[in-house]
Amino acid sequence: ALVPEELTRAIDALKAEHDAVILAHYYVSPEVQAVADYVGDSFYLAKLAKSLPQQTIVLCGVEFMGESAKLLNPNKTVLLPEPGADCPMAHMVKRETVDAARAQYGDDLAVVCYVNSTIEIKSWSDVCVTSSNAVKIVSELPQKHVLFIPDQNLGRYVAEQVPEKHVILNKGYCPRHHVITPEQIIDVEDAHPEALVLAHPECKADVLAEADYIGSTAGIIKFAEQSDAREFIIVTVAGVLYELERRCKDTGKKFFFPATRPTCVNMDMITLEKLVCCLETGAGEVHIGVSPEAAERAKLTLDRMLDYAA
Ligand code: 13P
Ligand code: SF4
Repeated sequence: ALVPEELTRAIDALKAEHDAVILAHYYVSPEVQAVADYVGDSFYLAKLAKSLPQQTIVLCGVEFMGESAKLLNPNKTVLLPEPGADCPMAHMVKRETVDAARAQYGDDLAVVCYVNSTIEIKSWSDVCVTSSNAVKIVSELPQKHVLFIPDQNLGRYVAEQVPEKHVILNKGYCPRHHVITPEQIIDVEDAHPEALVLAHPECKADVLAEADYIGSTAGIIKFAEQSDAREFIIVTVAGVLYELERRCKDTGKKFFFPATRPTCVNMDMITLEKLVCCLETGAGEVHIGVSPEAAERAKLTLDRMLDYAA
């Protein structure tokens, strides 16, 4: 087993003692995913966090995921095993960009915010989206103009899928996905010509052009699980391999990654040791660092996302 049975038992005892539940993103290490009660993509984790009976939510993911759980559950304790694990893209938009678009388009503009964003950025926005619901939500918005922040790549992908909207892009990007090149994919395709290419929409357009399927981490995993194909080139952070192999056990399916094997250094900061420490001490509690009014506006963007995506 990945995690010694003794340690798993100790974690179970700590969870019971503190009325805690462990949520993990598909990008964290296999050991952490193995001890989590629930593992999922960012949309699943946000939705789930609202429906759990436990008083304490331990979120094994980056800061914005813990903040979303806290915004949606202000009366619960939300703990991050590594509060320093941040997503660089979460900061990549300026207030001026939002103000300028609002000044230009007025009421016919929706500011659509990828959940990979700080609470402050959410508070400037109208609705949140994740990679698994962005196309659906943008297509259902009443406004014609959409400012998509912070991710240019997901924004551009959404714009292509919803051509009836005028989507204004912002320059943010994920430092892990943005550096993947089409040549890297073609190299793996040359070695495995039968393999299907499954890519995350945070990749650049020339990489997505190589893809047979584009979707969130959960979407990629589900596609591989349900597909009749035997080989897959996975174009996202390699943390998803643990769940891919778990779901596709005994099928003989094979998964390949670009030679650089993308990792997210931020997600990698969440270790089993830190998880145990946080369960023991209650360290890493998420506090909302903005005014109550801004927090309320930010929460509204998440509530709207959950309503739209319901
Ligand atoms: P998902 O919404 O697919 O889980 O992606 C989150 C993320 O951070 C991708 O880099
Ligand atoms: Fe952020 Fe990219 Fe890491 Fe996802 S993979 S958490 S977008 S840095």
